[in-house]
Amino acid sequence: AMASVEELKKATGYKSVDDHVTSGMVVGLGTGSTAYYAVERLGQKLASGELTDIVAIPTSIRTKEQAESLNIPLVSLDTHPVLDVAIDGADEVDGDLNLVKGRGGALLREKMVEVSAKKFVVIVDDTKLVPGLGISGAMPVEVTPFCVDFTVARLLELGSIAGCTAKVRDDGGKPYVTDNDNYIVDLYFTEPIADAVKAGEEINALVGVVEHGLFLGMTSEVIVAGADGVKVIKP
Ligand code: A5P
Repeated sequence: AMASVEELKKATGYKSVDDHVTSGMVVGLGTGSTAYYAVERLGQKLASGELTDIVAIPTSIRTKEQAESLNIPLVSLDTHPVLDVAIDGADEVDGDLNLVKGRGGALLREKMVEVSAKKFVVIVDDTKLVPGLGISGAMPVEVTPFCVDFTVARLLELGSIAGCTAKVRDDGGKPYVTDNDNYIVDLYFTEPIADAVKAGEEINALVGVVEHGLFLGMTSEVIVAGADGVKVIKP
């Protein structure tokens, strides 16, 4: 029978831990329905004693709660500024292994943790592979809540993302609030972002912006699961 998307997520999540986590490591734990399975696997291997002496850094409150429920010892970037490996899902992966992340709202903590890892392993099912960034859905930008309409207007003036539309993410009639008490502006494109590096630079140069969901030049390896099995892609 064909594997369900859920089974694909589990396969890639489990493989990431089996391939990359060894005893004694500092491990970054991603956020989302795929990273969930990596966290689950790490918890299993700590409980069985197959892995020991691990500390982990979660990238969201949700992941922190899952890790705590599995008795995974947690630390923070304040005391552990360099991670051996970080494992996370993604919303889009392009041919150069650049990513869009943050449709789950966790992009700021994810980027802080994942840029600090010696190795960043991305786990996806093959529906996330895209020919260009920005085409399968939102490119999220975390912004400060102060005068969000002002910040949206400034975003829409940027040449590198000209023609996109912007929407403050909604949560039942109120703005969605991130773990950091900020808002998310979702940018929608009709064509792939032509110059993602330029776009990232221009977006982050705006004073009301906290961080964007383009994760560029960060990926060490992608583990992708599809109907024909699990594959590893390297830059
Ligand atoms: C969280 O904000 C995101 O960056 C997730 O890592 C991303 O949305 C992938 O999540 P799924 O594995 O649930 O698709």
